[in-house]
Order: sequence, then C-alpha cells, then structure tokens
Amino acid sequence: MRSRTGLLSLEAWLLVAVASLGFVNAVTVTTVTESGATVTLPIIPATQISSLPTSCANDAAPVAPKQKALNHVRTTKFGVPSTPFGLVYADNDHAFVALPDGANSALGVLDTSDFTPKLIHQIPLPNGYAIDEGGLDVALSHDGRYVFVAAGPGAAIFDIAKAIAGSSDAAIGGLNGTSYSNSTGDEADSVEVAASIHSGAGLSGTQVTLTSDDEYAFVSQEYGSTLTGLLGALDVFKIDKGTADEPVKSTHVGFLQLGDAVVGSVLSPDGNTIYATSESQVLTSNLPGFISALDVAALKANNTKDALKSSVAAACGPVRAIVSSDGKTLWVTARESDLLLAYDTEKLISNPSESLLAKVTVGTAPVGLTFARNENLILTANSNRFNNTDATTGISVVDVKKALAGKGDKANLGQLATGLFPREFAVSPDGKTVLVADYDSKQIQTIDVSTLPLAIDIVGESKGWRHGVDIGLFGILLFVGVFLVL
Ligand SMILES: *[C@@H]1O[C@H](CO)[C@@H](O)[C@H](O)[C@H]1NC(C)=O
Ligand SMILES: *[C@@H]1O[C@H](CO)[C@@H](O)[C@H](O)[C@H]1NC(C)=O
Ligand SMILES: *[C@@H]1O[C@H](CO)[C@@H](O)[C@H](O)[C@H]1NC(C)=O
Ligand SMILES: *[C@@H]1O[C@H](CO)[C@@H](O)[C@H](O)[C@H]1NC(C)=O
Repeated sequence: MRSRTGLLSLEAWLLVAVASLGFVNAVTVTTVTESGATVTLPIIPATQISSLPTSCANDAAPVAPKQKALNHVRTTKFGVPSTPFGLVYADNDHAFVALPDGANSALGVLDTSDFTPKLIHQIPLPNGYAIDEGGLDVALSHDGRYVFVAAGPGAAIFDIAKAIAGSSDAAIGGLNGTSYSNSTGDEADSVEVAASIHSGAGLSGTQVTLTSDDEYAFVSQEYGSTLTGLLGALDVFKIDKGTADEPVKSTHVGFLQLGDAVVGSVLSPDGNTIYATSESQVLTSNLPGFISALDVAALKANNTKDALKSSVAAACGPVRAIVSSDGKTLWVTARESDLLLAYDTEKLISNPSESLLAKVTVGTAPVGLTFARNENLILTANSNRFNNTDATTGISVVDVKKALAGKGDKANLGQLATGLFPREFAVSPDGKTVLVADYDSKQIQTIDVSTLPLAIDIVGESKGWRHGVDIGLFGILLFVGVFLVL
C-alpha cells in the first residue's frame, strides 16, 4: 500500500479520494506559468467502472495478447515519403493523407481508383501548421468542399477540388487559436511560450471534428499549454465558409480543459454531444484515462461551466472513439490496456458507473478504430507503438454483435498483419475498401473488406436455439401423444 502511494502524486490521491466520494470539480492542479504566476485548474474526476483497471502502473511491460492470425485477407501496400497519419476518402477514387515531416509536412492526395493507390500530389501545409507537435488527423466538411488537417494552433483547411487537381492555391484558410507564430516545434518550449500570449488551448492540434452544418469545429489540443495546466483540451472554433472561392474564415470561441493528452473526439449523430478521450487523469500519473461527454450547445456558447456532462473511466490510455450510427454505442480504444471498450451513451450521462457494455482484448496498443460491413465489424489498428516484446502489429477484427452480447474476448476474430505502427483508418464511401496508415513503415495499406472474416450472426444463433426448444417441445408432445394413443 505504502509503495503504491509513492507512485501517485498528491493531486492524484486527492482525486481518487474525491472521485470515489462522487464530488465533482473539487480537485485542482497547480501549475507555475513561464512568467512565474501560479494558476490553479480543476481536475476532472471520472466515474470509476468496477471491471476496469484503477492503476496503470504496469504499462511499461504488459504481456502482448496472443492473436489468431488472419491469413486470407486481401491486402496491398505502397510507400509514401514520410510517416502517414490521418486518412480520409473524398470519393471512391480519391483520398487524402496527412504526411507529417516537420517544416516539410504535407497533405498527400491519393488516386484510389485501383486497389493499390497512387500518391498523385503533395501540398505543403501552410506556415505555422507544419510543426512537429501533436498529430495530423484529417476530416472532411459535410458539404464536400473542404478537407481539414488538425495541426499546431488548430487546423489547416484545403479546398478539396483544388487539392485533387494539385493546385498550389488549394490551402484556403486555417483554424488558429493562438497569436503565437514562431514555434520551434520543440514541444515543451512552444507550449510554455504559447500559453503566455494566446487565447487558444495550445499548439498540438491533433484531431478535428466538425458539426454537421460545418459551422463549428472542435480541435483536440493534445498537450494543452500552461493555460490548461499542461492538460489536454478541446478548442472550439466558429467557421465562416463564405461563398465559393473565398477563403474560409474562423474565430476562436474558447476551450475546455480535460485530462492529460486529449486526442480522440467524435460527435453524436444528433449533433448534441461530443465525446473526447483523455489518456490519463493527471499529467505523469499512473491513473487511468477517461472519456468525457460534452454538451455541444454549451461549447458553442463558450459556456465551459455547463459543457461537461460526464466523465467516465476508460482503462489505460484511451485515444480514439467512434459512435454507432444510431448514436447508442460509443466505442473506445484503450491503448495501454490493449482493449476495445463499448459504452451505452445514454447511461454515460444517466448512470455512468453502469455504462460499460463490452470489453474486448485486441492486439497490442490499439489506436485507430473503424466500423466495417455495415457496423457488424470493428477494426482496431494495433500499433505496438511501445515496441513490446513478443507483440506484433496488425489489425484486429472484432464482431460487434458478439461483443455487445457479452462474449468478451471471443468477439475478437483475429488479427491481420500490417507494417509498423498502424495508426489511422479510412473507409471508402462504397464501404468496399479500408486504408490504414502504417506510420513507422512509411506506407499505406489497402484492405479488401469483402475478404474480412464474417461476423457471426447472433440473431441467427438465438433463432437456432429457439428452434432447438421447439423441436424439444414437439418431441415431448409426440411422446405424450403416442403414450395416450397406446
Ligand atoms: C495565427 O494568428 C496569428 C495572429 O493572431 C499569427 O501571428 C499566426 O501566424 C497565425 N498562425 C497560423 C498558423 O496561421
Ligand atoms: C518567439 O517569441 C517569443 C515571444 O515574443 C520569444 O520570447 C521567443 O524567443 C521567440 N522564439 C523564437 C525561436 O524566435
Ligand atoms: C470564452 O470564455 C473564456 C473564459 O471565460 C474567455 O476568456 C474568452 O474571452 C471567451 N471567448 C469569447 C470569444 O468571448
Ligand atoms: C519501435 O520500432 C520501430 C522500428 O524499429 C521504430 O521506428 C520506432 O521508433 C520504435 N518506437 C519506439 C517507441 O521505440
């Protein structure tokens, strides 16, 4: 007991104590800014889930879960000039990939008309977005006009038609929460300096999520800044698209500080809630991470006080999330726990400690995740980013119905091989092809969805069971009938 306390900071212990009593916002973290001022910020206590770990102290050397190899999936790969990050299809024949490379970072344009795509253009990220911090996730506007690349102080925005044509004026604007422009790309340095002179939450923009009317964008600022106590945050931007060919303008609305390392975010289908992941509760602690449900209307109104609806434990290192199209289930990858988690979105708010629906062990260090085959399957990108002994990288194929029927690890149908550090997915609009970015191998892999293993139809199974009962009843009746006749 004593030795374990040593692993946690004082804040962390207070947090655990307070969280377990169910109080909210009673815990703070104190940070000294660059100018020497002391800021005190609230730490968000997350509701605990009894079947999930309460300490992540053993992260460093987890045992790599054994994976059944899926050898019959049709896949191909091709090299790109730098480590690929986010991917998104514009249409079945074109996709975009973010290619981070310091000052030479670019948006890559792929011709996907053949099973093996071709990189046809590389459009440089504008100054101030091409920095080494954070990730570079990509998202399309819902009107099909723009592709957003999360980066630095927000996101760079490109005109889709111009980018596909390889036009040099494809960069058409940017989300910019900061007034600081001379980042050296040095994480600690830029975060510190940025905090003293800007209004945005940081310079480590990682994922961008747009409302369905494209009027607002949320950017996860993974590492935050001293303004956020070096905790992660979600920056909120109002977008003004203007008419065709006009640059896209935006204003920074505000930000909401969450936990340590905020990466994944996803909007509910009704547009009312945004879910965001925090890898841990407190910086450099061994506490688990959490997912937060945030009220979109409150975020738009810069009403951060009322924005946080709920925060719920999500094992160690939760990093990405997706929501089912009926809005009922939130799926989260917990990277350091090798888990895929499913939550009931209604219970996340109404009864958070009972909101966990499923927990499936996948391959090592899952990051990206996506639905396939009409949401009957989920694929996880098992990054093995910490290079664990005995681990393999690959893609786990998870049967959604089995997972939700409580079959646990039996829902994991197996793993297909990838290059090093598979990170992000994109699914073609026709649902036939999945792209995966193999970050450390500097390659993109294509997967033929029709060759993935079939999800087992649980409804069919239960029908079969009922059929068995019917036969049983018929047999008894027949026996009784025969007995009566005799
Ligand atoms: C963000 O805006 C500031 C001015 O407020 C400017 O100095 C800076 O270069 C901008 N950053 C980007 C990436 O455009
Ligand atoms: C960036 O600007 C800040 C604030 O003006 C300054 O203190 C810092 O030295 C500059 N850094 C670089 C690398 O120019
Ligand atoms: C949003 O709220 C923050 C914190 O109260 C405030 O500093 C900021 O100026 C607000 N933003 C706008 C656009 O009013
Ligand atoms: C893991 O190994 C790969 C390939 O050897 C290397 O590129 C990567 O930097 C390593 N990652 C870590 C965290 O050590």
